[in-house]
Amino acid sequence: MSIAFLNDSYMPITEAKISPMDRGFLFGDGIYEVIPSYEGKLLGFNGHITRMQEGLAGIGLGLQWTHQEWETLCTKLASENGNGNLGIYLQVSRGADSKRYHAFPQDVKPTIFGFTFDIPASPVANKETAKRYTVSTSQDLRWQRCHIKSTALLGNVLHFQEGYSQGNDETLLYNDKNELTEASACNAFIVKDSVVITPPLDNQLLPGITRNMLVDILREDGSIRVEERPVTMDEVRAADEVWITSSTKEIGAVVSVDGVPVGDGQIGDIWLAAQTLFTQHKYDLSLIHISEPTRQAEIS
Ligand code: PDD
Repeated sequence: MSIAFLNDSYMPITEAKISPMDRGFLFGDGIYEVIPSYEGKLLGFNGHITRMQEGLAGIGLGLQWTHQEWETLCTKLASENGNGNLGIYLQVSRGADSKRYHAFPQDVKPTIFGFTFDIPASPVANKETAKRYTVSTSQDLRWQRCHIKSTALLGNVLHFQEGYSQGNDETLLYNDKNELTEASACNAFIVKDSVVITPPLDNQLLPGITRNMLVDILREDGSIRVEERPVTMDEVRAADEVWITSSTKEIGAVVSVDGVPVGDGQIGDIWLAAQTLFTQHKYDLSLIHISEPTRQAEIS
């Protein structure tokens, strides 16, 4: 039985109950995080919590938990749930009001919820065993604040379902300029002529912790060139490699886009080099110096 945290206590997940008046339920008015924990070791913890705090501040939700308080919660949730390979889900909503009214309520306590779910073991940099992802593409029809990790995910859910219903693992999204933004639950990269390219951080995409860590690790290592710049869908279709990144996938090699093979249809050499470096350095905090999503400050 998995153990969850709700407001002030730990309990079996089946006993965790919230009010139907909770604004998270009524409006999707909340912020969430998913933090991987491998055998009790949290990956990218500071980046995740900083992003959550920036998201909470960004929607005017004044919860003042410190990194230490979040760490205590995450560590306890991981240990209560067996310290295996876990995704730790954290959610803060604006709480349960007595009425349904759009304006922010006064004096309502935020709802804090955490639970864990099983994730695959830490990915291994091996072309033979790595999962081969396939994706669809679709025009990005979500809102203009995609840098906020909001629980209002219907836009993402509908886009995910487009790819899923066609037998694919994800949906790559593009804006009205035919530029790649991200995927419905991942960031996206292409590789062309050995250069790794990913769209720059702005309001069209989530500042993914995996994305930011990967960019930092590759730049620090220096053997692979990285560019953060707009990527057109024509470039995606002509790419040698396409990757999707997220906390539960690390770097996912995409082998087909809309049914058309990427490059030669095999997992590429740059993926192998990048996943090898990521595996080697992902806990190395001295390397991952700019992965904090304070880069959101650059978002206009
Ligand atoms: N998804 N973009 C979107 C829209 C996402 O939902 C996610 C993560 C990412 C990757 O971010 P990160 O590297 O910080 O996990 C990019 C999570 C895992 C989810 O919703 O389950």
